[in-house]
Amino acid sequence: VVDLIAAAAAVGQPLRVGVIGAGIMGADHANTLRRSVRGAEVTAVADVDLDRAKSAAAGATAYDDAFALIADPAVDAVLIASHDSVHAAQVVAAARAGKAVLCEKPLAPTLAEGRQVLRDIGATGEALLSLGFMRRFDPAHTELKAAIDAGVIGPVLRVTGASRNVVSYPDTTSESIITNSVIHELDSIPWLLGSPVTSVAWLAGRATSKVAAGVADPSLTLLRTADGVLTSVDMYVNAEYGYDLRTEVLGEKGALSLTDPALLAVDLGRHRSTGYPLDWRPRFADAYRLELGAWVASVAAGTPSPLASAADGLAASRVAAAVIASMHEGGRWVEVDR
Ligand SMILES: NC(=O)c1ccc[n+]([C@@H]2O[C@H](COP(=O)([O-])OP(=O)(O)OC[C@H]3O[C@@H](n4cnc5c(N)ncnc54)[C@H](O)[C@@H]3O)[C@@H](O)[C@H]2O)c1
Repeated sequence: VVDLIAAAAAVGQPLRVGVIGAGIMGADHANTLRRSVRGAEVTAVADVDLDRAKSAAAGATAYDDAFALIADPAVDAVLIASHDSVHAAQVVAAARAGKAVLCEKPLAPTLAEGRQVLRDIGATGEALLSLGFMRRFDPAHTELKAAIDAGVIGPVLRVTGASRNVVSYPDTTSESIITNSVIHELDSIPWLLGSPVTSVAWLAGRATSKVAAGVADPSLTLLRTADGVLTSVDMYVNAEYGYDLRTEVLGEKGALSLTDPALLAVDLGRHRSTGYPLDWRPRFADAYRLELGAWVASVAAGTPSPLASAADGLAASRVAAAVIASMHEGGRWVEVDR
């Protein structure tokens, strides 16, 4: 299949992409593919909500069944942006159909399901699978990684991160905050440091009144990587004031921080202000564009995907499982399963 796609690309035919899930991310990815990615054509969109699929399809085929989209011969490659709980079955079906798959994070909500996916698709399916950890393509993050790797601040000693969403998804639980939101840090921290997470601890204090009783928001996740660096991730998914992501990497000689990416400052009434976006899309628009472009180019060329791999997705799920174990065991340090 990959050879056929490469042959089509060689004669200038676009890669025909089917998008599963037409919510916030699926609709955004379909638009980005259409507007900003060379060599791609969105030929189908599927969502259990057919009206949503039609609206995101913008004239392409709309399905209310993901498996019908996967079977469509006019779909060469599948982008999965459906609910976390259905990723696993859709990844398995697409890989078994021999189609390249870009699955939004997480691979699956639990480690057991993630492991089962990799068993079900085997080595051939694994080679077809990429994960949507887009920070790896975000210009601010790639610059940060390059500075760390170049030793600009000397050996890294600490990483401090804060991540805030305006409002949580419906039915959010303490566990889903880890598998859905903190999961980005569970991939980006070992990627930035070039060192795997070996042990974790999870803590929480007073919770916001905006969540159901028993849901821990905000929460603090501590990660220790094999290099000995301690990272703290302060997550609050109901922050109201805006989408906000902060990272500081402290080294022996200095510190590196992601700067506020606001493009405009308003000076008014003796105050200066900048805005926050409502969600992550404006902050990561370039990352999504670069990620999708790299994915389409690699699938079309039949070369290995430069995106996060299935193994990276499983590694993040292993760390998430350890964080949830700590959550259930009074915040004790938990070793990450190897
Ligand atoms: N990489 C990122 O920056 C990023 C950001 C946000 C969300 N995500 C991930 O993207 C995915 C989608 O998130 P979202 O914010 O767009 O959520 P959303 O709720 O806005 O959209 C999900 C869509 O999936 C559809 N859906 C549910 N079950 C389905 C099924 N069985 N088949 C087909 N469609 C189905 C829903 O009807 C909905 O339209 C999630 O997995 C989420 O974790 C990634």
